[in-house]
Amino acid sequence: MEMGRINSLISTSALLWLILVLENVSTVYGNAEGDALYAFKKQLRDPNNVLQSWDPTLVNPCMWYHVTCNIDNSVTRIDLGSANLTGQLVSQLGQLTNLQYLELYNNNISGKIPQHLGNLTSLVSLDLFRNKLEGHIPKTLGKLQKLRNLYDRIIHILYFN
Ligand SMILES: *[C@@H]1O[C@H](CO)[C@@H](O)[C@H](O)[C@H]1NC(C)=O
Ligand SMILES: *[C@@H]1O[C@H](CO)[C@@H](O)[C@H](O)[C@H]1NC(C)=O
Ligand SMILES: *[C@@H]1O[C@H](CO)[C@@H](O)[C@H](O)[C@H]1NC(C)=O
Repeated sequence: MEMGRINSLISTSALLWLILVLENVSTVYGNAEGDALYAFKKQLRDPNNVLQSWDPTLVNPCMWYHVTCNIDNSVTRIDLGSANLTGQLVSQLGQLTNLQYLELYNNNISGKIPQHLGNLTSLVSLDLFRNKLEGHIPKTLGKLQKLRNLYDRIIHILYFN
């Protein structure tokens, strides 16, 4: 093989290596919110494919359907009411620090509400009305002062009034 060809092979593989390294850096540091949402998606059953656009290899989740971001590309809304979803809430959702609206009414979500949702300090609406959740609302949610729209009404009355 001639020298020029070898050199170009070397630089091609160096470039590939660099792309792979950068790609890894952006999954680890750049897309924590996408990873958190993807963890939620992974254990949901989604017969209507409403989460089809939730592709974890994109640089952030802001282009996904049913997800809204602010100008800093941080997630502010998840709108998945009446989406025919079965599964559970995951603690990773507590990492979405700018989340204001978590709309999951009228699905088939079961299990407990993770304590980690108490870290969602920007939350103004947590709509879990008409699901199959059990247990009580974690006390950690009581510290969320902006939360004013908790549609699980009976529990709302018991814990917040
Ligand atoms: C919800 O999903 C089930 C399959 O799990 C399907 O039979 C049903 O028609 C769906 N309902 C709606 C409203 O899309
Ligand atoms: C709702 O979830 C339960 C499991 O929690 C499952 O057995 C049932 O089939 C689900 N219903 C629908 C309509 O998907
Ligand atoms: C989120 O909340 C949980 C339980 O309430 C706590 O253990 C955890 O350290 C919190 N995580 C962050 C990043 O604040």
